[in-house]
Amino acid sequence: MTEESPVLYQGPKRVLSGVQPSGDLHLGNYLGALAKFARMQHETDTFIFVADLHAITVWQDPAKLKDQVREIAAAYLATGLDPKIATIFPQSAVPEHAELAWIFNCVARLGWLDRMTQFKEKSGKHKERASVGLYTYPVLQAADILIYKATHVPVGEDQRQHLELTRDIAAKFNHDFDAPGFFPLPDPVTQGPGARIMSLRDGTAKMSKSDPSDNSRINLTDDADAIAQKIRKAKTDAEPLPETMDGLAERPEARNLIGVYAALDSRSDQDVLTEFAGQGFGAFKPKLADLAVAKLAPIGLQMRSLLADKAQIDAILADGAYRARNAAAPTLAEVKAKVGYWAG
Ligand code: TYM
Repeated sequence: MTEESPVLYQGPKRVLSGVQPSGDLHLGNYLGALAKFARMQHETDTFIFVADLHAITVWQDPAKLKDQVREIAAAYLATGLDPKIATIFPQSAVPEHAELAWIFNCVARLGWLDRMTQFKEKSGKHKERASVGLYTYPVLQAADILIYKATHVPVGEDQRQHLELTRDIAAKFNHDFDAPGFFPLPDPVTQGPGARIMSLRDGTAKMSKSDPSDNSRINLTDDADAIAQKIRKAKTDAEPLPETMDGLAERPEARNLIGVYAALDSRSDQDVLTEFAGQGFGAFKPKLADLAVAKLAPIGLQMRSLLADKAQIDAILADGAYRARNAAAPTLAEVKAKVGYWAG
């Protein structure tokens, strides 16, 4: 892959991330992404969008798509994003993303995309039947990030490879168009507990929107009873909790639940183990259920109340789209000039 540009990007720090409106949001999305958005908006200029262009790489019912977008926007607001501070918008309302993605399609190499593990997972056995969009998906993701010259991208672990591709595209563009330091090489922000939350039914599989078992995940719209019940039913083992994380090496379900507790309570895994060492899941699970209900049930309630006023959500998204276009347009004009087009 391309060498890093020797000239470093000199522009300001900027945060960008997005979530696809393609199924219920769950605890993994919250801890891996949304909770970080709300924290980071106070530190730096922040752009958070709903990835509705990415969503149609697999079939979405046109009659439901707008409501799916509103639901993600409601989750952003309910988890603490403030539209006066952060720019919140639907990706499809800012055409500069798609236009830059085309140019990046001509910068990225087939060999780079061939290595993307998410395409392999999502296309399954019949990749010839997958949409072309599903294949070039990470190129659009690079455009989402670089159209704002974002430097920091809060995401879960599963997006790391897409971020590496984004850096390769940025570096190759800077090199090919003789523009050292033009695009930043953005960093994924995955530190801390919560970057990879696993299924409640199988500690070796990622918690995911597409898992057929609803008991495998806690949805942000689950009420207090459903949250507590899913934690009660979560797969565990009969051993007491050890004193250090090394003791959990062969116990993926136990390790995951400790990680969930730590992330929800903003503590380290070790700190949680120190508190519960020697106790079994009969004692630990009710404490985890109480914590999860206290942190998550208010989010679901707030989402439901926000979704009762669609006009207000639409107004926030329209204002965000206006601000996002103003930020994206100058980058696209610069890119077009570099490629040799009329910039207008
Ligand atoms: P999506 O919609 O699949 O997931 C949204 C965010 O949730 C994180 N996540 C998890 N984190 C921890 N544990 C889990 N089990 C878990 N499952 C999901 C994801 O890492 C992600 O941060 N390609 C992106 C959307 C996107 C994007 C972007 C993100 C499009 N353009 C530009 C950042 C920047 C996606 O499909 O996320």
